[in-house]
Amino acid sequence: MPLRLAVVGHRLWFGHLPLLRRVHRDAEQERAAGKVCALAAMDNAFFCNSGAEANEGAFKFARRAAADPAKHEIVALKGAFHGRTFATLAATDRPHYREPFQPLVPGIRIVDYTKPAELRRAISRERTAAVIVEPVQGEGGINVLPDALLRELRDLTRAAGAALIFDEIQCGLGRTGTLFAYEQTGVVPGMVTLAKALGGGLPMGAVLVNETIAAAIRRALARPAPPDLPRLVRERFTWDRAAAATLAAYRGVAAD
Ligand SMILES: Cc1ncc(COP(=O)(O)O)c(C=O)c1O
Repeated sequence: MPLRLAVVGHRLWFGHLPLLRRVHRDAEQERAAGKVCALAAMDNAFFCNSGAEANEGAFKFARRAAADPAKHEIVALKGAFHGRTFATLAATDRPHYREPFQPLVPGIRIVDYTKPAELRRAISRERTAAVIVEPVQGEGGINVLPDALLRELRDLTRAAGAALIFDEIQCGLGRTGTLFAYEQTGVVPGMVTLAKALGGGLPMGAVLVNETIAAAIRRALARPAPPDLPRLVRERFTWDRAAAATLAAYRGVAAD
């Protein structure tokens, strides 16, 4: 158990009863995070309340990892759907969601992935913080993106030092026959976002982050020690430790 829990537990011993709930919720979180990370071969999990919040979190993690303010762009693909919040809307290529809210948040661009030259031009070491992709586009029409495209995105993001985010909010958690759709592609992203089935009917989302990105965030913030990424990037929501949803997530993934 992390030191943080032990310290809180110690204070609790001296009669701070409300802390009991906090310790309990943190323990539930550690257990759910450990399970889902083990299944996804990731290293860190941040829980939130929805898919859109998970993608917002992933964008913030990517920008922190990039360190340089010029290296801020998020690239999303033609046909994508990543949510209805203000930033995820800018990464969503659905005109009827976007048009009423123009101008959308800057720094997020949509690229036609069927034009390889355009894709290559869009992803650069100087400007790109992350590329976000649904391995199977849901709202885009159950569009299975070719493995070769995902491989190319992996290569381009690696060369650019940018994060590759797989949005598995719709296609993950068993919906394609494996727990994660990307397991069938041979491509492993740096971050995975989940929601929908994760909470088994309760509001629940998650960002899973690999150690390379976590280390980049710690380096950028010059904080080698604490593994608590959400605290480092100041990512929090009132209900991001909701015990019932966390338990539901744990039970759901533990059953697989
Ligand atoms: C691929 C994808 N990403 C993100 C979202 C947004 O999730 P939520 O509705 O939980 O905010 C959805 C919702 O349908 C989705 O299908």
